[in-house]
Amino acid sequence: MLLTPSRRSDTIWLQSGDALLLADAETGMIVDVNPKAEQLFGLSHEQLCSLHQSKLYPPDQIGLAGDHFQAAIRGDAKQFSDIDIQCADGTFVPVEICTSVFTENGRTLVLGSFRDFSHHRQTEAELRRSNWALAAIMRANVAATYADTDVKLLQDVCEAITSRSIFTLAWIGVAEDDADKSVRVAGAAGPAIEYAKDIQVSWADTRLGSGPTGVAIRHCKTVVNNDSARNPLFQPWAARAATYKIRASFATPLIDQGASFGALTVYANRPDVFGPDEITLFEQFALGLSFAIKSRQVQAKYQSAMEQMVEALAATTEKRDPYTAGHQRRVANLAVLIAQEMGLDAERCRVIRLAGLVHDIGKIQIPAEILNKPGKLSPLELELVKSHVVISRELLHGIDFPWPLADIAGQHHERLDGSGYPDKLQGDAIRVEAKILAVADILEAVSSHRPYRPALGLAAGLAEIEKMAGSQLDAQAVAAAVRICSAEGFSF
Ligand SMILES: [Fe+2]
Ligand SMILES: [Fe+2]
Repeated sequence: MLLTPSRRSDTIWLQSGDALLLADAETGMIVDVNPKAEQLFGLSHEQLCSLHQSKLYPPDQIGLAGDHFQAAIRGDAKQFSDIDIQCADGTFVPVEICTSVFTENGRTLVLGSFRDFSHHRQTEAELRRSNWALAAIMRANVAATYADTDVKLLQDVCEAITSRSIFTLAWIGVAEDDADKSVRVAGAAGPAIEYAKDIQVSWADTRLGSGPTGVAIRHCKTVVNNDSARNPLFQPWAARAATYKIRASFATPLIDQGASFGALTVYANRPDVFGPDEITLFEQFALGLSFAIKSRQVQAKYQSAMEQMVEALAATTEKRDPYTAGHQRRVANLAVLIAQEMGLDAERCRVIRLAGLVHDIGKIQIPAEILNKPGKLSPLELELVKSHVVISRELLHGIDFPWPLADIAGQHHERLDGSGYPDKLQGDAIRVEAKILAVADILEAVSSHRPYRPALGLAAGLAEIEKMAGSQLDAQAVAAAVRICSAEGFSF
């Protein structure tokens, strides 16, 4: 709506819920204001009417205000919501300004309608914050589930907290049981990451243990330090914090069975940013993180126990059958090299090694005199030897391994063209791990000494697998094995 001077005394001008200010386009001086403007700025009509329009804004926004004023005069824009005003009491208030331009007695005037935008900005900020929190929690959950290592997990969680947020640093400290009760930085991220490098923090009841991290660990409770500059307990780190523009910090313990084993500490470059919402959020982060760390430790212990069981099984087979003694181990080692050469990931290589270590475990049920027979085997004896695969599969199936060892070992005599045993599987029906194991198995068996013949050597082994490449054996696995065995210095 265009307000003309004659209407300025009207009800709308006097009772408008928006602050209305009229300024001279040429000089920028304010010429009239309504009562709401007096109320918003905390200045009288006379005080406001002696001001240049630029004086309505904080010093660092005067340039922006000037641009908006000129844009309004040119008619390029009529609405601005990216600016604050400065009130008489020194406070800044975010406003939305709508402008219109008209002429009065040959003078061009700019009418500005100012509306307090605090609530809108606050809602916007809250929305941004909850979106950020949601994204950060999801990122941390992904890290907890998929991170390959604990270091990566901790790093990812710190990155989730500091990515696109007001938090300049997050680090995870582990409480050490050394003489100083030191806190080791196990993961950190954020623009102020240098602050955490070599930082001296303790969880003992000492000066270095008086900061948020130390207290959080020692007393198993959340600690908020909303202004580092004014907190005497933060003195040991005050100079360091000033260097990295850190003004507030927050620490919450990582807890397992009621006892803390570390802490999550988060920093911001503004004071008073850790309110109830942030405290709840980071406490939830720490809770999830504690659980993830502990369950990974349990999982790692379980996997290590299972690996030891595989090793023990391998050792048992080898003791009973001296001729294949070491065969499984050599096959396992070579299969890992082939898998690595083919670019398989570390976890898959590990599974291949374990499957290799026990792939012939079924031989413990074959009479030793057949296995060690120096001469040619009868058809019946041969069938008996071949049954070791099914026995291997059944034996391994009986143990609840966290890896598919039974399937892999059960397929190590299958061939791509279906000529293998026990199930005459073809092509992709055979697991890649079993295809790799088959190549390593043949290469090792041909190269080494057998009860019925002397060792034929590596060259004979390579010739054998190359002959079978593509038809019976996986061509890629054969090519990888040839590259490995042709390298200088290779031996089983
Ligand atoms: Fe075998
Ligand atoms: Fe074998």
